[in-house]
Parts: sequence; C-alpha cells; structure tokens
Amino acid sequence: MSKNLFYTLKVLSINNTTPDCVVVEFKVPEKLKETFSFKAGQYLTLKSQINNEEVRRSYSLCSSPNESRWKVGIKHIEDGKYSTYANEQLKVGDTIEVMPPNGSFTIDINKDKASNYIAFAAGSGITPIVSLIKTQLESEPQSTFKLFYTNKTVSSIILKEELEALKNEYMERFEIFYFLTKERRNIPFLNGRLDKEKLHTIFNSISEVGNTHHVFSCGPEAMIHLVKDYLLEKGMTKNQIHFELFNTEGSDQLVIKEKLKKKFKGKTSDITILEGGKSFSFEMAQGSNNILDEALINSADLPFACKGGVCATCKCKLIEGDVKMLLCYGLEDDEVEAGYILSCQSIPTTDKVIVDFDI
Ligand code: FES
Repeated sequence: MSKNLFYTLKVLSINNTTPDCVVVEFKVPEKLKETFSFKAGQYLTLKSQINNEEVRRSYSLCSSPNESRWKVGIKHIEDGKYSTYANEQLKVGDTIEVMPPNGSFTIDINKDKASNYIAFAAGSGITPIVSLIKTQLESEPQSTFKLFYTNKTVSSIILKEELEALKNEYMERFEIFYFLTKERRNIPFLNGRLDKEKLHTIFNSISEVGNTHHVFSCGPEAMIHLVKDYLLEKGMTKNQIHFELFNTEGSDQLVIKEKLKKKFKGKTSDITILEGGKSFSFEMAQGSNNILDEALINSADLPFACKGGVCATCKCKLIEGDVKMLLCYGLEDDEVEAGYILSCQSIPTTDKVIVDFDI
C-alpha cells in the first residue's frame, strides 16, 4: 500500500512577516513544476520528522501561480509541533517532504469579466487570501477586491508589507480595512472583531450584496459561519461564498464521540480498505476511533493532510456498512449523496465496513 504522495523539496528562503510568523519558500525543480502547478487559494501539506515523530500539516500558499513561486505562511501556535519547528529550527537549504498543491478554496479566472470580490480574513487566514487577491487583480484587469482583515495589533498583521504593496499597485481596484481587537483607533468601525453589525455596515455603506460576485473567508469557524449565514440570508448563493478552515473539531464533535463510544461499547468492526488496487483489513472497536487513524495505527499508507474534515485529501467511498461522519466541510452535498466520506472523520457503526480510496 504505497503511493508516492510526497516529494522532497529544498527550502529556498525563510522570512519573518511578523515576529511569530515565517514565510517559507520552496525550490521546485523544473521537472516538478507541472506536478506542483496550483490555483490561488490552494495549500501544500508538509511532512517532517520532528523529535522522532512524523508530523504533517497543511499551509496555504501565499504566492500567486502567476509568480511561479511556492511560498507558505506558518504562524507559530503555542505547543504547535510543526509551527514551532518551522519558526525556530527550520533553515534555508533544509529539505521537507511536500505533497503537491490541493484544495478547493479557489475561483476560475475570467480575464474579460469585471468581478467584485470581497474577502474576510483573520490572523494567518490571510495567506490564501493574499494569493487570491494578487492573482485575480493581475489576471482580471477589470475586477476589484475589498479585504476586511482582523488582527490583534498592527504589529501582528501578517503579510502587511505585501498587502500595502498590492494596495499601491492596484490603488483603484483594491481596498483594505484592518480591524484590530487589542488596539483602539479613532474610527469605532475598525475596532474589535467582525460581527453582524460590522457586516451590516459593510454591505450597506461600503459595498452591496447585489454588486458582489464572490466572497472568500478564511479564519476561525465562528467568523466563517457569521459571514456565510449573513450572506445566505441576504440572498447570496452558496457557490458565491467560499471558505477555508483547518482543524475544526469542537465540543459538538466530542459529545457525539462520547455517545458513540457508549452506544457501541464492546462491539467490533471489520474494516477493509481498498487502495492502490490492493485490499487491507483490520479490526477495530466499533464507534470509537475514525477509520483513517486506525488504518495508520495498523501501518496503512493512506493520503491525509488536515485531519480536520476540511481538505478532503482522505476522501474515499463507502462500499459497505455504515459510519458516522463528525465533520464534512471538505465534501459537496452531491458527493455525500454519492456515498463519499472523509475517512479522518468517519467512525464505523456497523460490524463490517468497506471503503475504497481508488474511486
Ligand atoms: S485529512 Fe483533511 S479532511 Fe480528512
């Protein structure tokens, strides 16, 4: 069961955009440029051995495909294994195992169309948004972008220099509104995090829902739901609202897990995994863990990245049996109807479960 999902890439440069966030650029050799071609808004999954443990994390590309450069932003998170490693130990010239770009937080380019885009970002959620802004403004000469970006303080604004340079380059077509939560300014609208009142002001005084073609949001789950619910209520369609989030397991999921554990206590499930033309079987406690983690414990080599129900790298098709999926942000409704599941979120609830990673 093996699939060459990762490629070894060299670190070309590391720059601090804020004291606790580095931008890491990879050197992609000529022969891999096609494999690593990407759309604005996509991410890379990195894999490194950190203190003798394999750690994988996904980070959004903040460069534009037009630049033919591969840069990701990695913000240090307290106790975050990968982000601490990247911010404190990683050096230029080191190598990292990197999975080719993936993700659906993207939009097609239409150079003849004048589209009005709006983006909401918080903290490191800016990384895919910067890529989208750069790409759409450069590739669609008549389109506009408005960015509403929340940070704690001015000094914690990630990629600020890059954003300001874009503002200077596209003065007529790009506007930025910085919301700060821990520094006060004279304009009350710009103080504090995004809320319903601010959305109301934005779509009444700065922009109009009817005149906005696509909205992107990247940041905490609460912000994403706030934006999505508001815009759906105002008549925007689902395919105009794009969002990206990582590692989202919350209290609801923990409650469901506990209930499943109790309900299926003492029962087991026979799991069969079809992948790479082969089949692999193991037994696990029913209603306990997700299929992906149990398969990895049993030495399977399966694709995964975020383990948060978002990226869909671990997508497979349920052929037999049943599972309870905790989160499924990474799947479209029609995929769920067609029987696709996210193995990182799927807890078996029948005696036998067969899943296929090859479909
Ligand atoms: S690994 Fe990302 S959705 Fe499962």
